[in-house]
Amino acid sequence: MDDFPRNSKCYTNAIENRLDIRDFESLNGVVQNLIREAVKIREKAYCPYSNFAVGAALLTEEDTKVYTGCNIENAAMSPTLCAERTAIPKAVSDGYLKIKMIAIVAHQKDSFTAPCGVCRQTLSEFRGSDGDVQIYLCKPTMDQVLCTSLSEILPLSFVSYKTDSVKS
Ligand code: THU
Repeated sequence: MDDFPRNSKCYTNAIENRLDIRDFESLNGVVQNLIREAVKIREKAYCPYSNFAVGAALLTEEDTKVYTGCNIENAAMSPTLCAERTAIPKAVSDGYLKIKMIAIVAHQKDSFTAPCGVCRQTLSEFRGSDGDVQIYLCKPTMDQVLCTSLSEILPLSFVSYKTDSVKS
């Protein structure tokens, strides 16, 4: 998909040439369904300040239920919840802690919308048993999909200080 318009404002840097962009129709039914759910929940976005609506839908390893979320903004700004961090607590509070895949849908003319740093770190807490989370970024038009993973977009991530508790 070399003709996909690149956004010069999008800091894709080193991974830009390795982006895996596929046609929606070429993806399997599970992923297509996840993207459709993210498109649907995006309609519920509460975003009077940015007017930038985002939808997210995720599947855990333990269940077939799709958990969805939209962004929920706040006049005080910092309490704003991203779509991903609206969906993730729903799964976790149902007892499902291993996220297998997540679809994120938003509309930016010339680029895909990738999760913010806080959402990446939140996803990192609930990685699947392979240590990763599949990530699918798409627009509401559902034509092309950027297929990536948490390990690709959050390399060298902080896991826990508890893994090395020896005081030095
Ligand atoms: N936003 C998300 O919901 N998810 C993302 O991955 C990026 C940003 C929201 C937060 C805020 O409501 C709006 O987009 C503008 O930043």
